[in-house]
Amino acid sequence: MAVQIAPSILSADFARLADEVAAVADADWIHVDVMDNHFVPNLTLGLPVVEALLKATPVPVDCHLMIEDPDRWAPGYAEAGAASVTIHVEAASAPIRTLREIRAAGARAGLALNPGTAVEPYADLLAEIDMLLVMTVEPGFGGQPFLDVVLPKIRRARDLIKGRDLDVWLQVDGGVNTETIERCAEAGADVFVAGSAVYSADDPAEAVRSLRARAARASG
Ligand code: DX5
Ligand code: ZN
Repeated sequence: MAVQIAPSILSADFARLADEVAAVADADWIHVDVMDNHFVPNLTLGLPVVEALLKATPVPVDCHLMIEDPDRWAPGYAEAGAASVTIHVEAASAPIRTLREIRAAGARAGLALNPGTAVEPYADLLAEIDMLLVMTVEPGFGGQPFLDVVLPKIRRARDLIKGRDLDVWLQVDGGVNTETIERCAEAGADVFVAGSAVYSADDPAEAVRSLRARAARASG
């Protein structure tokens, strides 16, 4: 399993987004948190900003949609050129159709689970996705403490993926930093979102390297 690091621009300076993404040019992904103030109690950005970011960086963009009615909006992010689009199971009414539309538009399809959402009911959907996102905080804000209570679910998710012999990436998002990333990697995660751990660091590029090294060590 290759370790991938996805800095979240939620903790970046929104007035200098092009510079902020350039500062992490060695990252595997730029993670973009789209929030609508309905699915989560916070409002960030939408398609026009994602379109501008796509022009500003060669790093693939990973859109995490924390919005109601992702069935309506998600395909548009894929059509705009986001390389990965993730929808929440708690918000989607027709997840299989929407995931297929994301893939048909040429993006990787991701499915996200809130901390309190079990993975087992979605085991059969693993064949429809390229990435499972297990949230390790309640979605909505950067800088929250990592929820250790989610670690057993990460292990169970990895076992389900392995048991079905699928090539599904397992992403963690929320409270991932140099203290917690090893626990996530040991539990089976291979894609690591980090917002404050990267953008609150003096040297964001070095923070990405350090996170990658720790995760690689822990995943053996
Ligand atoms: C939270 C977002 C995260 C956020 C993580 O709802 O989905 O991507 O940026 O921030 P940190 O890494 O600071 O917990
Ligand atoms: Zn996110």
